[in-house]
Amino acid sequence: MPYAIIGGTGFSRIVENQFKPELVRTPYGQAKIYLGQLDGAEFVFLPRHGVDHTIPPHKINYRANIRALKSLGVERIMATFAVGSLHRGIPPKAVVALDQFIDFTNGRESTFFDGGKSGLAHTEVNFPYCPGLQTAVVVAAKARGLEIMPKGTYVCTNGPRFETPAEVRMYAQLGGDVVGMTGVPEAPLARELEMHYGAVAYSINWGAGLEEKINVVADLEGIKQTVFESFVVALQTATTDDCECESALMMSHPPTQEEFNA
Ligand code: HPA
Repeated sequence: MPYAIIGGTGFSRIVENQFKPELVRTPYGQAKIYLGQLDGAEFVFLPRHGVDHTIPPHKINYRANIRALKSLGVERIMATFAVGSLHRGIPPKAVVALDQFIDFTNGRESTFFDGGKSGLAHTEVNFPYCPGLQTAVVVAAKARGLEIMPKGTYVCTNGPRFETPAEVRMYAQLGGDVVGMTGVPEAPLARELEMHYGAVAYSINWGAGLEEKINVVADLEGIKQTVFESFVVALQTATTDDCECESALMMSHPPTQEEFNA
């Protein structure tokens, strides 16, 4: 059973040389993933924007990506996001283990349960990020000397434009800590397939209006490397007995296995 790491901006370089690319066909299209070994365990790396960063947030095939990981036997995923800071409590370079999201996306294919042949289900997302993975990644990051906030709320916009300053003020008032463009529907799709999905965001800029211009900070390689190493450990050590990730489907009329694989 391989472990999966989904990387965003700038994570690909870490695995580029050690992992082998592979195309996985799914009923939703193809997913390009990378297979390799770390610590003697099998890992799948999925760069959600493509290795050359050519797929914009609203065009990512989230369903193909998550379905591909499922078909490879993945049960645990750690994902990372470069984000903007929505308030002064989380400055650029801060690292946050996410525990909630607020969804402002639109027009994205956001469910595997689309009615008809694909069945219907309502998915519980009280804990949208696996609490077991969240705890494990915080422990692993701290053990490596990385300062990490143990929880935070991710606001997902549709992008690809940045926010207006008024939007940033609104998102902060709603309880958002960081803002990005790719966290949803990735997390809820993983939950629909009852996989354990944890996520860590690292801020690369103050949100619009918190500074005169949006300035992306440099010098994040060390943080990314440590986050990656923490993922490798957290995926292997997390206790997931108490979480509800594997029993999330409610009121479901799922498709038959045959329909699911069609
Ligand atoms: N807004 C939305 N997405 C982002 C930002 C931002 O400020 N920074 C990095 N991803």
